[in-house]
Amino acid sequence: MTDKKKDTIIIFDTTLRDGEQSPGFTMNIKEKILFADQLVKLGVDVIEAGFPIASEGDFEAVKTIADRARGVQVAGLARANPKDIDTAWKAIKGAENPRIHTFISSSDIHIQLQFKKTREEVLKIAVDSVRQAKSYTKNVEFSPMDATRSDPAFLAEMVHAVIEAGAVTVNIPDTVGYAIPTDFNRLIRYLFEHVPNIRDAIISVHCHNDLGLAVANSLAAIEAGARQVECTVNGIGERAGNTAMEELVMAIRTRGDLFNLRTNINTKQIVPTSRLLTSITGVSVQPNKAIVGSNAFAHESGIHQDGLLKNAMTYEIMKPEDVGINKSTLVLGKHSGRHAVLDRLESLGYALQKEETERFFRLFKALADSKKEVFDEDLAVLVGESLFREEDERRYKVENVQISTGMFSPPMALVTIKDHVRGSAEMFEVAHGNGGVDAGVTAVKKITGTTAKIESFNLVAITGGSDAIAEVHVTVADEHEGRQIKAFGSAANIDVSIAGIHSFVDALNKLEYMKKAGQRSRELMSGGVNGNGKV
Ligand code: KIV
Ligand code: ZN
Repeated sequence: MTDKKKDTIIIFDTTLRDGEQSPGFTMNIKEKILFADQLVKLGVDVIEAGFPIASEGDFEAVKTIADRARGVQVAGLARANPKDIDTAWKAIKGAENPRIHTFISSSDIHIQLQFKKTREEVLKIAVDSVRQAKSYTKNVEFSPMDATRSDPAFLAEMVHAVIEAGAVTVNIPDTVGYAIPTDFNRLIRYLFEHVPNIRDAIISVHCHNDLGLAVANSLAAIEAGARQVECTVNGIGERAGNTAMEELVMAIRTRGDLFNLRTNINTKQIVPTSRLLTSITGVSVQPNKAIVGSNAFAHESGIHQDGLLKNAMTYEIMKPEDVGINKSTLVLGKHSGRHAVLDRLESLGYALQKEETERFFRLFKALADSKKEVFDEDLAVLVGESLFREEDERRYKVENVQISTGMFSPPMALVTIKDHVRGSAEMFEVAHGNGGVDAGVTAVKKITGTTAKIESFNLVAITGGSDAIAEVHVTVADEHEGRQIKAFGSAANIDVSIAGIHSFVDALNKLEYMKKAGQRSRELMSGGVNGNGKV
Protein backbone atom coordinates (compact mmCIF):
# COMPACT_ATOMS: atom_id res chain seq x y z
CA MET A 1 0.00 0.00 0.00
CA THR A 2 1.49 3.39 -0.91
CA ASP A 3 0.92 6.02 1.72
CA LYS A 4 0.30 9.58 0.52
CA LYS A 5 3.03 11.80 2.02
CA LYS A 6 1.76 13.21 5.27
CA ASP A 7 1.57 16.98 5.76
CA THR A 8 2.86 18.24 9.10
CA ILE A 9 0.60 20.32 11.32
CA ILE A 10 2.68 23.03 12.97
CA ILE A 11 2.04 23.09 16.71
CA PHE A 12 2.18 26.65 18.01
CA ASP A 13 2.04 26.51 21.78
CA THR A 14 0.60 29.54 23.54
CA THR A 15 0.45 28.13 27.09
CA LEU A 16 2.94 30.78 28.20
CA ARG A 17 0.95 33.61 26.60
CA ASP A 18 -2.80 33.00 26.18
CA GLY A 19 -2.66 30.36 28.92
CA GLU A 20 -0.58 32.33 31.38
CA GLN A 21 -2.61 35.51 30.96
CA SER A 22 -5.81 33.85 32.21
CA PRO A 23 -6.76 34.38 35.85
CA GLY A 24 -4.91 32.16 38.28
CA PHE A 25 -2.31 30.82 35.87
CA THR A 26 0.40 33.41 36.48
CA MET A 27 3.89 31.93 36.51
CA ASN A 28 7.14 33.47 37.65
CA ILE A 29 10.19 33.62 35.38
CA LYS A 30 11.73 30.42 36.67
CA GLU A 31 8.51 28.53 36.21
CA LYS A 32 8.17 29.85 32.65
CA ILE A 33 11.71 28.80 31.80
CA LEU A 34 11.23 25.33 33.23
CA PHE A 35 8.00 24.96 31.29
CA ALA A 36 9.56 26.25 28.06
CA ASP A 37 12.34 23.65 28.42
CA GLN A 38 9.64 21.01 28.72
CA LEU A 39 7.85 22.34 25.61
CA VAL A 40 11.08 21.85 23.67
CA LYS A 41 11.19 18.23 24.86
CA LEU A 42 7.56 17.84 23.89
CA GLY A 43 8.49 18.87 20.37
CA VAL A 44 6.30 21.91 19.76
CA ASP A 45 7.33 23.88 16.67
CA VAL A 46 6.68 27.38 18.05
CA ILE A 47 6.63 28.62 21.64
CA GLU A 48 4.71 31.84 22.08
CA ALA A 49 6.70 32.86 25.12
CA GLY A 50 4.65 35.89 26.16
CA PHE A 51 3.58 39.45 25.48
CA PRO A 52 6.80 41.45 25.97
CA ILE A 53 5.19 44.91 26.28
CA ALA A 54 2.89 43.69 29.06
CA SER A 55 5.38 44.10 31.92
CA GLU A 56 9.08 44.00 32.68
CA GLY A 57 8.60 40.47 33.99
CA ASP A 58 6.99 39.34 30.71
CA PHE A 59 9.80 40.96 28.72
CA GLU A 60 12.46 39.25 30.83
CA ALA A 61 10.78 35.86 30.56
CA VAL A 62 10.37 36.07 26.78
CA LYS A 63 13.96 37.25 26.37
CA THR A 64 15.39 34.49 28.56
CA ILE A 65 13.40 31.81 26.74
CA ALA A 66 14.39 33.23 23.33
CA ASP A 67 18.06 33.28 24.34
CA ARG A 68 18.14 29.71 25.64
CA ALA A 69 15.57 27.57 23.77
CA ARG A 70 17.05 25.81 20.76
CA GLY A 71 15.44 23.76 18.01
CA VAL A 72 12.20 25.71 18.29
CA GLN A 73 10.83 29.01 17.02
CA VAL A 74 10.12 31.59 19.73
CA ALA A 75 7.30 34.07 19.17
CA GLY A 76 6.54 37.31 21.00
CA LEU A 77 3.08 38.86 20.79
CA ALA A 78 2.68 42.52 19.82
CA ARG A 79 -0.36 44.68 19.18
CA ALA A 80 -0.24 46.35 15.78
CA ASN A 81 1.69 49.43 16.84
CA PRO A 82 5.36 50.48 16.56
CA LYS A 83 6.18 50.37 20.29
CA ASP A 84 4.80 46.87 20.84
CA ILE A 85 6.59 45.55 17.76
CA ASP A 86 9.92 47.15 18.75
CA THR A 87 9.63 45.72 22.25
CA ALA A 88 8.67 42.25 20.98
CA TRP A 89 11.69 42.27 18.67
CA LYS A 90 14.07 43.30 21.48
CA ALA A 91 12.78 40.39 23.55
CA ILE A 92 12.94 37.65 20.90
CA LYS A 93 15.91 38.61 18.75
CA GLY A 94 18.23 36.13 20.52
CA ALA A 95 16.10 33.19 19.36
CA GLU A 96 17.31 30.73 16.73
CA ASN A 97 14.24 31.56 14.67
CA PRO A 98 12.41 34.56 16.15
CA ARG A 99 8.81 35.22 15.19
CA ILE A 100 6.85 38.44 15.69
CA HIS A 101 3.14 37.78 16.09
CA THR A 102 1.17 40.97 15.59
CA PHE A 103 -2.60 41.41 15.63
CA ILE A 104 -5.49 43.79 15.21
CA SER A 105 -9.22 43.14 14.98
CA SER A 106 -11.06 42.62 11.71
CA SER A 107 -14.66 42.49 12.99
CA ASP A 108 -16.85 45.58 12.80
CA ILE A 109 -17.91 44.89 16.38
CA HIS A 110 -14.33 45.46 17.56
CA ILE A 111 -13.35 48.07 14.95
CA GLN A 112 -16.31 50.34 15.65
CA LEU A 113 -17.26 49.66 19.25
CA GLN A 114 -13.84 49.12 20.78
CA PHE A 115 -11.27 50.90 18.63
CA LYS A 116 -13.58 53.60 17.16
CA LYS A 117 -11.86 53.29 13.79
CA THR A 118 -12.85 52.56 10.21
CA ARG A 119 -12.08 49.40 8.24
CA GLU A 120 -9.65 51.39 6.05
CA GLU A 121 -7.73 52.68 9.07
CA VAL A 122 -7.44 49.22 10.57
CA LEU A 123 -6.34 47.72 7.27
CA LYS A 124 -3.57 50.30 7.00
CA ILE A 125 -2.41 49.69 10.58
CA ALA A 126 -2.29 45.94 9.86
CA VAL A 127 -0.19 46.38 6.72
CA ASP A 128 2.16 48.96 8.32
CA SER A 129 2.67 46.70 11.31
CA VAL A 130 3.52 43.65 9.21
CA ARG A 131 6.00 45.77 7.21
CA GLN A 132 7.62 47.05 10.40
CA ALA A 133 7.86 43.52 11.84
CA LYS A 134 9.25 42.30 8.52
CA SER A 135 12.08 44.83 8.77
CA TYR A 136 13.25 42.83 11.81
CA THR A 137 12.54 39.22 10.85
CA LYS A 138 11.26 37.21 7.91
CA ASN A 139 9.18 35.21 10.34
CA VAL A 140 6.08 37.40 10.77
CA GLU A 141 2.66 36.15 11.82
CA PHE A 142 -0.46 38.27 11.63
CA SER A 143 -3.82 37.64 13.35
CA PRO A 144 -7.07 39.40 12.42
CA MET A 145 -8.64 39.25 15.87
CA ASP A 146 -12.30 38.20 16.14
CA ALA A 147 -12.05 36.79 12.60
CA THR A 148 -15.07 34.53 13.03
CA ARG A 149 -17.40 37.50 13.62
CA SER A 150 -15.93 39.51 10.73
CA ASP A 151 -17.41 40.17 7.31
CA PRO A 152 -15.75 37.34 5.31
CA ALA A 153 -15.11 39.65 2.34
CA PHE A 154 -13.29 42.19 4.54
CA LEU A 155 -11.43 39.39 6.31
CA ALA A 156 -10.27 38.08 2.91
CA GLU A 157 -9.15 41.59 1.95
CA MET A 158 -7.13 41.89 5.15
CA VAL A 159 -5.55 38.44 4.76
CA HIS A 160 -4.60 39.30 1.18
CA ALA A 161 -3.07 42.65 2.22
CA VAL A 162 -0.98 41.29 5.09
CA ILE A 163 0.39 38.44 2.97
CA GLU A 164 1.33 40.98 0.33
CA ALA A 165 3.06 43.01 3.08
CA GLY A 166 5.12 39.94 4.03
CA ALA A 167 3.26 37.89 6.64
CA VAL A 168 4.32 34.26 6.25
CA THR A 169 1.72 32.93 8.69
CA VAL A 170 -1.82 34.23 8.92
CA ASN A 171 -3.71 33.08 11.94
CA ILE A 172 -7.52 33.05 11.95
CA PRO A 173 -8.63 33.43 15.56
CA ASP A 174 -12.02 32.47 16.92
CA THR A 175 -11.34 34.96 19.69
CA VAL A 176 -14.66 34.65 21.48
CA GLY A 177 -15.27 30.94 20.85
CA TYR A 178 -18.24 31.63 18.58
CA ALA A 179 -17.54 29.24 15.72
CA ILE A 180 -19.19 25.89 15.02
CA PRO A 181 -17.09 23.27 13.17
CA THR A 182 -19.07 23.29 9.91
CA ASP A 183 -19.09 27.08 9.63
CA PHE A 184 -15.45 27.43 10.65
CA ASN A 185 -14.52 24.87 7.99
CA ARG A 186 -16.57 26.91 5.50
CA LEU A 187 -14.79 30.15 6.51
CA ILE A 188 -11.33 28.65 5.98
CA ARG A 189 -12.40 27.22 2.61
CA TYR A 190 -13.81 30.63 1.69
CA LEU A 191 -10.43 32.23 2.41
CA PHE A 192 -8.64 29.62 0.29
CA GLU A 193 -11.03 30.39 -2.56
CA HIS A 194 -11.04 34.20 -2.27
CA VAL A 195 -7.50 35.20 -1.29
CA PRO A 196 -5.38 34.91 -4.45
CA ASN A 197 -1.99 34.86 -2.64
CA ILE A 198 -3.10 32.60 0.23
CA ARG A 199 -0.66 29.83 -0.72
CA ASP A 200 2.25 32.21 0.00
CA ALA A 201 1.47 31.86 3.72
CA ILE A 202 0.67 29.14 6.22
CA ILE A 203 -2.90 29.41 7.43
CA SER A 204 -3.18 28.96 11.16
CA VAL A 205 -6.13 28.79 13.56
CA HIS A 206 -6.51 29.84 17.18
CA CYS A 207 -9.75 28.68 18.79
CA HIS A 208 -11.29 29.45 22.15
CA ASN A 209 -13.44 26.96 23.98
CA ASP A 210 -16.45 29.02 25.06
CA LEU A 211 -18.83 26.50 23.49
CA GLY A 212 -16.58 23.52 24.19
CA LEU A 213 -15.68 23.33 20.48
CA ALA A 214 -12.10 24.57 20.29
CA VAL A 215 -10.57 21.21 19.36
CA ALA A 216 -13.43 20.33 16.98
CA ASN A 217 -13.13 23.72 15.28
CA SER A 218 -9.35 23.36 14.92
CA LEU A 219 -9.79 19.93 13.31
CA ALA A 220 -12.48 21.31 10.98
CA ALA A 221 -10.06 24.06 9.92
CA ILE A 222 -7.31 21.52 9.29
CA GLU A 223 -9.67 19.65 6.98
CA ALA A 224 -10.14 22.90 5.09
CA GLY A 225 -6.39 23.44 4.66
CA ALA A 226 -5.07 25.12 7.84
CA ARG A 227 -1.58 23.84 8.66
CA GLN A 228 -0.80 25.51 11.98
CA VAL A 229 -2.84 25.15 15.16
CA GLU A 230 -2.39 27.41 18.17
CA CYS A 231 -3.04 25.50 21.34
CA THR A 232 -2.19 25.16 25.02
CA VAL A 233 -1.32 22.33 27.37
CA ASN A 234 -4.39 21.17 29.31
CA GLY A 235 -6.40 23.63 27.17
CA ILE A 236 -5.76 26.56 29.53
CA GLY A 237 -6.36 30.09 28.25
CA GLU A 238 -8.69 33.07 28.35
CA ARG A 239 -12.15 32.25 29.80
CA ALA A 240 -12.97 28.62 28.88
CA GLY A 241 -9.50 28.19 27.44
CA ASN A 242 -7.90 27.37 24.10
CA THR A 243 -7.60 24.28 21.92
CA ALA A 244 -6.07 21.56 24.13
CA MET A 245 -2.77 20.50 22.56
CA GLU A 246 -3.00 16.92 23.85
CA GLU A 247 -6.50 16.38 22.43
CA LEU A 248 -5.68 17.84 19.05
CA VAL A 249 -2.42 15.90 18.68
CA MET A 250 -3.94 12.59 19.76
CA ALA A 251 -6.98 13.08 17.50
CA ILE A 252 -4.69 13.61 14.50
CA ARG A 253 -2.62 10.59 15.46
CA THR A 254 -5.43 8.24 16.47
CA ARG A 255 -7.52 9.07 13.40
CA GLY A 256 -4.63 8.99 10.97
CA ASP A 257 -6.98 7.06 8.69
CA LEU A 258 -9.03 10.25 8.25
CA PHE A 259 -6.44 13.00 8.40
CA ASN A 260 -3.25 11.53 6.91
CA LEU A 261 -1.33 14.19 8.83
CA ARG A 262 1.41 14.22 11.42
CA THR A 263 2.84 16.51 14.09
CA ASN A 264 6.36 16.78 15.53
CA ILE A 265 5.06 16.13 19.04
CA ASN A 266 6.74 13.40 21.07
CA THR A 267 3.48 12.07 22.47
CA LYS A 268 5.26 10.29 25.34
CA GLN A 269 5.94 13.74 26.78
CA ILE A 270 2.25 14.71 26.84
CA VAL A 271 1.39 13.53 30.35
CA PRO A 272 4.68 14.71 31.94
CA THR A 273 4.08 18.14 30.39
CA SER A 274 0.50 18.25 31.62
CA ARG A 275 1.62 17.27 35.13
CA LEU A 276 4.39 19.83 35.16
CA LEU A 277 1.89 22.56 34.30
CA THR A 278 -0.42 21.34 37.05
CA SER A 279 2.30 21.33 39.62
CA ILE A 280 3.57 24.79 38.59
CA THR A 281 0.15 26.46 38.53
CA GLY A 282 -1.54 24.45 41.24
CA VAL A 283 -4.55 23.90 38.98
CA SER A 284 -5.43 20.27 38.36
CA VAL A 285 -7.34 19.01 35.34
CA GLN A 286 -10.68 17.35 35.98
CA PRO A 287 -10.41 13.53 36.33
CA ASN A 288 -12.41 12.90 33.13
CA LYS A 289 -10.32 15.29 31.02
CA ALA A 290 -9.47 13.62 27.71
CA ILE A 291 -5.92 12.22 27.40
CA VAL A 292 -4.45 13.68 30.63
CA GLY A 293 -7.21 13.27 33.25
CA SER A 294 -6.64 10.66 35.95
CA ASN A 295 -9.61 8.64 34.65
CA ALA A 296 -8.72 8.95 30.97
CA PHE A 297 -7.39 5.40 30.87
CA ALA A 298 -9.21 3.96 33.90
CA HIS A 299 -11.78 1.29 33.10
CA GLU A 300 -14.35 0.68 35.79
CA SER A 301 -17.16 -1.30 34.23
CA GLY A 302 -16.92 -5.10 34.48
CA ILE A 303 -17.65 -5.62 30.79
CA HIS A 304 -14.89 -3.20 29.82
CA GLN A 305 -12.40 -4.77 32.21
CA ASP A 306 -13.23 -8.22 30.87
CA GLY A 307 -12.67 -7.02 27.29
CA LEU A 308 -9.41 -5.30 28.16
CA LEU A 309 -8.00 -8.38 29.81
CA LYS A 310 -8.68 -10.30 26.61
CA ASN A 311 -7.36 -7.63 24.27
CA ALA A 312 -6.68 -3.94 25.00
CA MET A 313 -8.03 -3.04 21.56
CA THR A 314 -11.55 -3.87 22.69
CA TYR A 315 -11.96 -0.68 24.69
CA GLU A 316 -8.77 1.35 24.26
CA ILE A 317 -8.27 3.55 21.19
CA MET A 318 -4.90 4.82 22.44
CA LYS A 319 -2.21 3.13 24.51
CA PRO A 320 -1.51 4.86 27.85
CA GLU A 321 2.24 4.42 27.20
CA ASP A 322 1.91 6.46 24.01
CA VAL A 323 0.99 9.58 25.99
CA GLY A 324 3.63 8.94 28.64
CA ILE A 325 1.69 7.10 31.31
CA ASN A 326 4.25 4.67 32.60
CA LYS A 327 3.33 1.68 34.62
CA SER A 328 6.59 2.10 36.47
CA THR A 329 8.07 -1.05 37.91
CA LEU A 330 10.75 0.88 39.73
CA VAL A 331 9.55 1.82 43.21
CA LEU A 332 11.45 4.66 44.79
CA GLY A 333 11.84 4.98 48.52
CA LYS A 334 14.24 6.04 51.22
CA HIS A 335 16.87 3.55 50.09
CA SER A 336 16.86 4.79 46.51
CA GLY A 337 20.12 6.34 45.48
CA ARG A 338 20.54 9.73 43.94
CA HIS A 339 21.28 8.19 40.56
CA ALA A 340 18.05 6.17 40.42
CA VAL A 341 15.94 9.12 41.53
CA LEU A 342 17.46 11.55 39.05
CA ASP A 343 17.22 8.95 36.27
CA ARG A 344 13.53 8.55 36.98
CA LEU A 345 13.11 12.33 36.97
CA GLU A 346 14.77 12.55 33.60
CA SER A 347 12.73 9.74 32.11
CA LEU A 348 9.59 11.60 33.22
CA GLY A 349 10.82 14.52 31.17
CA TYR A 350 11.81 16.98 33.89
CA ALA A 351 14.93 19.05 33.32
CA LEU A 352 15.98 20.90 36.45
CA GLN A 353 18.89 23.26 36.90
CA LYS A 354 21.73 22.18 39.20
CA GLU A 355 20.49 24.17 42.19
CA GLU A 356 16.92 23.00 41.68
CA THR A 357 18.11 19.41 41.45
CA GLU A 358 19.79 19.78 44.85
CA ARG A 359 16.61 21.19 46.37
CA PHE A 360 14.57 18.46 44.66
CA PHE A 361 16.77 15.74 46.10
CA ARG A 362 16.55 17.20 49.62
CA LEU A 363 12.75 17.30 49.33
CA PHE A 364 12.75 13.74 47.98
CA LYS A 365 14.76 12.48 50.95
CA ALA A 366 12.46 14.24 53.41
CA LEU A 367 9.41 12.71 51.74
CA ALA A 368 10.93 9.24 51.44
CA ASP A 369 11.72 9.31 55.16
CA SER A 370 8.07 9.67 56.03
CA LYS A 371 6.50 7.66 53.19
CA LYS A 372 7.20 4.10 52.14
CA GLU A 373 6.87 4.36 48.39
CA VAL A 374 7.37 7.46 46.29
CA PHE A 375 5.39 7.45 43.04
CA ASP A 376 5.82 9.42 39.81
CA GLU A 377 2.94 11.67 40.84
CA ASP A 378 4.78 12.54 44.06
CA LEU A 379 7.87 13.43 42.04
CA ALA A 380 5.85 15.84 39.90
CA VAL A 381 4.73 17.66 43.06
CA LEU A 382 8.29 17.85 44.35
CA VAL A 383 9.47 19.29 41.02
CA GLY A 384 7.02 22.19 41.44
CA GLU A 385 8.20 22.69 45.02
CA SER A 386 11.88 22.73 44.09
CA LEU A 387 11.57 25.66 41.69
CA PHE A 388 11.75 28.45 44.20
CA ARG A 389 15.02 29.80 45.48
CA GLU A 390 13.81 30.28 48.97
CA GLU A 391 15.74 33.41 49.99
CA ASP A 392 14.73 35.66 47.14
CA GLU A 393 11.66 34.28 45.38
CA ARG A 394 9.23 34.05 48.26
CA ARG A 395 8.41 36.89 50.56
CA TYR A 396 7.15 34.58 53.30
CA LYS A 397 8.71 31.36 54.38
CA VAL A 398 7.05 29.04 56.85
CA GLU A 399 9.64 28.11 59.46
CA ASN A 400 7.50 26.00 61.73
CA VAL A 401 3.95 24.80 62.30
CA GLN A 402 2.68 23.12 65.43
CA ILE A 403 -0.91 22.03 65.61
CA SER A 404 -2.85 20.52 68.42
CA THR A 405 -6.35 19.17 68.04
CA GLY A 406 -8.45 16.85 70.10
CA MET A 407 -12.04 15.77 70.60
CA PHE A 408 -12.44 17.91 73.69
CA SER A 409 -10.07 20.83 73.13
CA PRO A 410 -10.35 23.56 70.49
CA PRO A 411 -7.85 23.21 67.61
CA MET A 412 -4.88 25.49 68.02
CA ALA A 413 -1.93 26.31 65.76
CA LEU A 414 1.41 27.95 66.39
CA VAL A 415 2.95 29.23 63.14
CA THR A 416 6.37 30.81 62.68
CA ILE A 417 7.11 32.72 59.48
CA LYS A 418 10.12 34.58 58.11
CA ASP A 419 9.28 37.73 56.16
CA HIS A 420 12.10 38.62 53.73
CA VAL A 421 10.73 42.11 53.19
CA ARG A 422 10.94 42.79 56.90
CA GLY A 423 14.60 41.83 57.17
CA SER A 424 13.95 38.10 57.44
CA ALA A 425 12.60 38.57 60.93
CA GLU A 426 11.01 35.45 62.40
CA MET A 427 7.49 36.10 63.63
CA PHE A 428 5.08 33.75 65.31
CA GLU A 429 1.43 33.74 66.29
CA VAL A 430 -0.92 31.35 68.01
CA ALA A 431 -4.51 31.06 66.88
CA HIS A 432 -7.60 28.91 67.39
CA GLY A 433 -9.89 27.86 64.57
CA ASN A 434 -12.40 25.38 63.26
CA GLY A 435 -9.84 22.67 62.68
CA GLY A 436 -6.09 22.68 62.28
CA VAL A 437 -6.03 24.33 58.86
CA ASP A 438 -8.32 27.15 59.92
CA ALA A 439 -6.27 27.78 63.08
CA GLY A 440 -3.05 27.83 61.03
CA VAL A 441 -4.48 30.13 58.36
CA THR A 442 -5.72 32.51 61.06
CA ALA A 443 -2.22 32.58 62.57
CA VAL A 444 -0.72 33.31 59.12
CA LYS A 445 -3.21 36.15 58.63
CA LYS A 446 -2.25 37.65 61.97
CA ILE A 447 1.46 37.53 61.11
CA THR A 448 1.25 38.86 57.57
CA GLY A 449 -1.67 41.24 58.05
CA THR A 450 -2.99 40.05 54.70
CA THR A 451 -6.50 40.93 53.59
CA ALA A 452 -6.56 38.01 51.13
CA LYS A 453 -9.49 35.63 51.39
CA ILE A 454 -9.56 31.93 50.56
CA GLU A 455 -12.05 31.29 47.76
CA SER A 456 -11.55 27.58 47.31
CA PHE A 457 -9.70 24.83 49.10
CA ASN A 458 -9.09 21.49 47.36
CA LEU A 459 -7.48 18.49 48.86
CA VAL A 460 -6.08 15.76 46.64
CA ALA A 461 -4.61 12.52 47.92
CA ILE A 462 -1.84 12.03 45.41
CA THR A 463 -1.23 8.38 46.16
CA GLY A 464 -3.21 5.69 47.95
CA GLY A 465 -2.96 4.50 51.55
CA SER A 466 -3.15 6.24 54.92
CA ASP A 467 0.39 7.55 54.39
CA ALA A 468 -0.74 9.22 51.14
CA ILE A 469 0.89 12.51 50.36
CA ALA A 470 -1.76 15.23 50.53
CA GLU A 471 -1.68 17.99 47.96
CA VAL A 472 -3.70 21.08 48.75
CA HIS A 473 -4.66 23.69 46.17
CA VAL A 474 -6.12 26.98 47.35
CA THR A 475 -7.41 29.99 45.47
CA VAL A 476 -7.07 33.31 47.24
CA ALA A 477 -8.36 36.72 46.22
CA ASP A 478 -7.24 40.16 47.30
CA GLU A 479 -7.70 43.79 46.31
CA HIS A 480 -4.76 45.58 44.69
CA GLU A 481 -4.83 49.09 43.23
CA GLY A 482 -8.60 49.04 43.00
CA ARG A 483 -8.98 45.68 41.30
CA GLN A 484 -9.29 42.11 42.36
CA ILE A 485 -6.31 39.82 41.92
CA LYS A 486 -6.30 36.09 42.43
CA ALA A 487 -3.61 33.52 42.94
CA PHE A 488 -3.43 29.80 43.32
CA GLY A 489 -1.26 28.21 45.92
CA SER A 490 -0.34 24.61 46.31
CA ALA A 491 1.70 22.50 48.66
CA ALA A 492 2.16 18.90 49.50
CA ASN A 493 2.84 17.23 52.78
CA ILE A 494 1.91 14.00 54.45
CA ASP A 495 0.02 16.09 57.00
CA VAL A 496 -3.11 17.68 55.54
CA SER A 497 -3.12 20.66 57.91
CA ILE A 498 0.51 21.49 57.23
CA ALA A 499 -0.08 21.21 53.46
CA GLY A 500 -3.09 23.55 53.85
CA ILE A 501 -1.10 26.20 55.73
CA HIS A 502 1.82 25.98 53.29
CA SER A 503 -0.50 26.27 50.29
CA PHE A 504 -2.08 29.41 51.76
CA VAL A 505 1.37 30.95 52.25
CA ASP A 506 2.34 29.86 48.72
CA ALA A 507 -0.69 31.73 47.37
CA LEU A 508 0.24 34.82 49.42
CA ASN A 509 3.73 34.68 47.87
CA LYS A 510 2.19 34.54 44.41
CA LEU A 511 -0.05 37.51 45.20
CA GLU A 512 3.07 39.41 46.23
CA TYR A 513 4.71 38.43 42.94
CA MET A 514 1.68 39.57 40.96
CA LYS A 515 1.60 42.90 42.74
CA LYS A 516 5.26 43.39 41.86
CA ALA A 517 4.81 42.28 38.26
CA GLY A 518 2.39 45.19 37.82
CA GLN A 519 -0.02 45.44 34.99
CA ARG A 520 -0.92 42.15 33.47
CA SER A 521 -1.10 41.40 29.78
CA ARG A 522 -4.82 40.69 30.10
CA GLU A 523 -5.44 44.41 30.53
CA LEU A 524 -3.38 45.27 27.48
CA MET A 525 -5.39 42.82 25.42
CA SER A 526 -8.57 44.68 26.24
CA GLY A 527 -8.02 47.58 23.85
CA GLY A 528 -5.70 50.33 22.71
CA VAL A 529 -4.32 49.68 19.24
CA ASN A 530 -1.81 52.49 19.11
CA GLY A 531 0.32 51.81 22.15
CA ASN A 532 -0.51 55.24 23.46
CA GLY A 533 -0.79 54.04 27.01
CA LYS A 534 -4.59 53.90 26.83
CA VAL A 535 -5.51 50.32 27.37
O1 KIV B 1 -7.85 35.02 20.92
C1 KIV B 1 -7.21 35.78 20.18
O2 KIV B 1 -7.72 36.37 19.23
C2 KIV B 1 -5.79 35.97 20.49
C3 KIV B 1 -4.99 36.67 19.45
C4 KIV B 1 -3.94 37.54 20.02
C5 KIV B 1 -4.43 35.65 18.49
O3 KIV B 1 -5.31 35.48 21.47
ZN1 ZN C 1 -6.63 33.85 22.28
